[in-house]
Amino acid sequence: MLKTPVIVLNVKTYAEATSKKAIELACLMDTIANETGASMAIAVQATDIFQCAEKVTIPVFAEHIDPIMPGSHTGWTLPEAVKAAGAVGTLINHSEHRLLMADIDSCITRAKELHLDHIVCTNNVATSKAAAVFSPNFVAVEPPELIGGDISVTTADPDIVSDSVKAVKAINGQVRVLCGAGVKNGRDVAKSIELGADGVLLASGIVKAKDKKQVIHDLVSGL
Ligand code: G3P
Repeated sequence: MLKTPVIVLNVKTYAEATSKKAIELACLMDTIANETGASMAIAVQATDIFQCAEKVTIPVFAEHIDPIMPGSHTGWTLPEAVKAAGAVGTLINHSEHRLLMADIDSCITRAKELHLDHIVCTNNVATSKAAAVFSPNFVAVEPPELIGGDISVTTADPDIVSDSVKAVKAINGQVRVLCGAGVKNGRDVAKSIELGADGVLLASGIVKAKDKKQVIHDLVSGL
């Protein structure tokens, strides 16, 4: 399982982090993680898992898996395949790739069967609570309206973080909680931890930054 507190970068389908650029970014995070000892992981597109995992020691995650077994499921993402490509974990139910409750349950089960670390994304306190019932490794709460924006969830809606932590821990104290949306700097990371979270899940703050190295160092300073 990811060492906490942790910074998890989800590169989504940004052009700035696709193919060769995904590898460059993964390598940059890897170097900084090794230099500083900070716990960091990167979730990349399925097509980039193999080439990133070959080059780095930080955990590489898939951005999504489907709730399927090997067989006839054209175009779906098989959990076994992301693992074979080198992913050690996966996001599940990101706001940009939502699943039905039953599918979330199946994805968590498949991830557990394959010993894939897993982060279930949620959009509010109620869904964080619902996700906790399935005892995932991580729940990551991200208010959709703040995703990709300039104001961090830790500033715009700190209660959703602390209330999700309380709600999740009341159901299962073992489930770790991350928060995300608009996270940009070390202050946001430090605030997330102050609010009881075990780290952050972010995207544009790093992917869209001109000086990615400087931003990653700044984020790490908040751990
Ligand atoms: O998965 C992380 C994400 O949805 C947050 O995006 O760009 O607000 O950091 P961003």
